[in-house]
Amino acid sequence: MIKINENYKKLQASYLFSDIAKRVAAFQKENPDKEVIKMGIGDVTLPLADVCLKAFHKGVDDLADKATFKGYGPEQGYDFLRSAIAEHDFQSRGADISADEVFVSDGAKCDTGNFQELFSSDAVIAVPDPVYPVYVDTNVMAGRSGDFVNGRYSRFIYLDSTESNNYVPDLPKEKADVIYLCFPNNPTGATATKEQLKKWVDYAKENRSLILFDAAYECFIRNPELPKSIFEIPGADEVAVEFRSFSKTAGFTGVRCGFTVVPKKCKVYDADGNPASLHAMWNRRHTTKFNGASYPVQCAAAACYTPEGQAQIKEKTDYYLGNAALIKKAIVDLGYSCTGGDNSPYVWVNTKTDSWAFFDRLLHECGIVCTPGSGFGSCGQGYVRFSAFNSRENTQKAMEKLSKLLK
Ligand code: MLT
Repeated sequence: MIKINENYKKLQASYLFSDIAKRVAAFQKENPDKEVIKMGIGDVTLPLADVCLKAFHKGVDDLADKATFKGYGPEQGYDFLRSAIAEHDFQSRGADISADEVFVSDGAKCDTGNFQELFSSDAVIAVPDPVYPVYVDTNVMAGRSGDFVNGRYSRFIYLDSTESNNYVPDLPKEKADVIYLCFPNNPTGATATKEQLKKWVDYAKENRSLILFDAAYECFIRNPELPKSIFEIPGADEVAVEFRSFSKTAGFTGVRCGFTVVPKKCKVYDADGNPASLHAMWNRRHTTKFNGASYPVQCAAAACYTPEGQAQIKEKTDYYLGNAALIKKAIVDLGYSCTGGDNSPYVWVNTKTDSWAFFDRLLHECGIVCTPGSGFGSCGQGYVRFSAFNSRENTQKAMEKLSKLLK
């Protein structure tokens, strides 16, 4: 008899964004004439930057010529991309990361979800609340969660991120083995300073824990004081891994490309407490289960690091930040408190009511889709998230409708 992985029974309902999509589809079926403006899932709307598109085409053309054809590439990514990443994203900011510490993949969701495979099944996991659901669900699937009691899994440490700590969680009293952090944060849009990240690095060193740092939204940081990478904190390369994505940076949500940085200095431990190489382990996992991102995709990603690429992708992220500013202004003018939106494409709003009730009201009364904060964890109850990934026209229209409804 084939038996299932019982841990799957502990997962809560469906994946948040599938749940929202179902409700929106049902609304559209009942109201085919009503316009719906989607500000829920953070999916880009602008086309690829011209320079990426040209490199993408050239990559495809290379495959059409015997002299430049490529079969399987290196699982870790082509050196032209790994070197560009190491130089532009890390070395230029004083972070000592080398090309061979960069593992190119088909996106940060897969990497953040897969990375936990490297840890023991009894590892103690700390997750922010609210949280990007992938960190939670993949650890539930792996059997690290314990039971779901009163809205929380019994074996996780929850790092509350609330108005009172400016959505940057305090250090836990307990010892966590693995700590997920995400800045600029999904879903709150909050950012963390170097001093705040240093506290986490010190905690990880003291407790021999590992930080899994999700920096998928770093390209929205405009405040020059804020770190874009955890590796800007001295010593972080001994205790942290970083996930990055071209999805929001360069509009690759449909193209698929991301990368994970695993420093060689980063140590984990075997059951006897002997140090092991996390870099070697991830390399082993990656080469066993992944055959490399496609060559044309990596050509397109590398084009982001040319001077034209940098200018073109900044123009697009500036555009989304312009939308975020509009959302934030409308919300504040209505007398609601919110965070995010300055160095982030997400605006996190305190609705002063139940998250799903607010979601339903917005959907049914003005055709606006947001994301209910309670779907990201119990600290998200009462909040909703607005995504700035939309056209300026739609954002303006949505905020006019919202202002009319809530005034
Ligand atoms: C989100 O809306 O939170 C993200 O788009 C989801 C993702 O990147 O997987």
